[in-house]
Amino acid sequence: MKIAFVTTEAVPFAKVGGLADVAGALPKALTKLDCDVKVFMPKYPTIDEWRFELHYCWEIGEMPIRVAGIPRTVHIFKGNLPNSSVEIYFIDCPHYFNRQLIYTTDKDEDERFILFSKAVVETCQRLKWTPDVFHCNDWPGGLLPVLVKDNYNWDMMFHRSAIVFTIHNIEYQGIFSPHILSKAELKPNLFYSDGPLEFHGSVSLLKAGIVYGDIINTVSETYAREILTPKYGAGMEKILGSRKDDFFGVLNGADYETWDPETDKHIPYHYSKRKLSPKQKNKKFLLDQLHLPFNKNIPLIGIVSRLVGQKGFDIFADVSDELMKLDAQWVILGTGDARYENLIQSMTYAFPKKVASYLGFNNELAHLIEAGADMFLMSSRYEPCGLNQIYSLKYGTVPIVRKTGGLADTVQDWHEFEYLGFDTGTGFLFNEYTGEAIVATVQRALEMFKDKKTWRKIQKNGMKRDYSWDASAKKYYDLYKMAIERRK
Ligand code: ADP
Ligand code: GLC
Repeated sequence: MKIAFVTTEAVPFAKVGGLADVAGALPKALTKLDCDVKVFMPKYPTIDEWRFELHYCWEIGEMPIRVAGIPRTVHIFKGNLPNSSVEIYFIDCPHYFNRQLIYTTDKDEDERFILFSKAVVETCQRLKWTPDVFHCNDWPGGLLPVLVKDNYNWDMMFHRSAIVFTIHNIEYQGIFSPHILSKAELKPNLFYSDGPLEFHGSVSLLKAGIVYGDIINTVSETYAREILTPKYGAGMEKILGSRKDDFFGVLNGADYETWDPETDKHIPYHYSKRKLSPKQKNKKFLLDQLHLPFNKNIPLIGIVSRLVGQKGFDIFADVSDELMKLDAQWVILGTGDARYENLIQSMTYAFPKKVASYLGFNNELAHLIEAGADMFLMSSRYEPCGLNQIYSLKYGTVPIVRKTGGLADTVQDWHEFEYLGFDTGTGFLFNEYTGEAIVATVQRALEMFKDKKTWRKIQKNGMKRDYSWDASAKKYYDLYKMAIERRK
């Protein structure tokens, strides 16, 4: 089966959040299922051609692509996902992609992803490679389904190509003015009230993906149920509801080639569920680096996150004073909204022996925190899947999470399961979206941490869980088959 995997981020080339982890791993897992996958993403200035051994695609050459009436020059560079046969095609158009950030608030943001979508389609044409499925992700991938089924439907080569559209986050909806239609040379009659692209008087590319996708999915089963409700659906619940027979939840996997404490190249001391003791050395190493004192009886709580509302920093801020009274140390890595960066900075200044933080993006530190922390906090308001709690389980770093989305599907509460007579719990969960619930649940974890034997049991329960991509890749394979059958 031929799959064009269309993404705006992929590890190790460019990353903002979890989509990059998915795009760097799922295509590799699919090749084991006899899929021929090509990944397509924009070429950003931070992607080092030499380091990643990218080659200029002479067989494609220069492609003029018209956006908003102006032909822009596009070139294609080709590489591979590391240690794999999966080819990745980089769409190079400096006019649109030589920017500081992957996602911008620039006024031509819509044009950037029009160009990208057209360039993916035209690259396939020039390669004479007909995908059985275009697998498009999030709103930047929402226009391509419209183009394939409308603008480019003159080309017989795509007549049987189906679309799988994956929602990684329903709150990012790709909202633009209706001018996007003329800029993309879409038929003006596609825009009307409650039409396939219209959302509150504007165009939503996320909606376009939902309407034009043959199969739609999101990244956990619980989030799939949640976003059909007004509380979580961000206004898209009805539109999604109208597609509910074609809508599924498939949990993300983890790439254990990069996230495994037995082999992780970013951590100094390797360990496993059979030999857990070196984890302490990582904790000491991490605390030394952060200039925090080491005490094996004081738990270290890690946070690695985009600092945005989704991740629950508003309720965390409500109780930051309370949390600082607890007998724990904190290491926080993140970047995002200024108010949360300021909060974390002031906590770091006020409690120099308790809190260390790094406000920026730092992949190596993210790995070190997973290896060195005792616990990991994610107090998300909503969480489509979440990857850090999955990494935490593998690293014996006990997750404390809110029971929502993928967090609810991957972490089992120790006390809840104990009450039911099972000793299979892997972490600590809370339901209520309040600061008090965070404090109470962190306290519950701190109490349990004193009981070393039980703590080890919780750690090992988590380390035994297998969230490798193989199972989820099979589910995507089935969705691809279904999309081909249901191709509209
Ligand atoms: P989201 O995609 O919503 O940000 P996920 O949990 O799915 O959440 O994925 C986040 C990914 O980004 C994880 O791999 C995490 O380690 C990484 N990450 C987030 N913030 C940072 C940061 N400041 N530095 C390094 N890695 C980060
Ligand atoms: C989004 C979600 C996150 C998910 C990631 C990858 O960024 O916020 O929960 O893990 O996409 O699917």
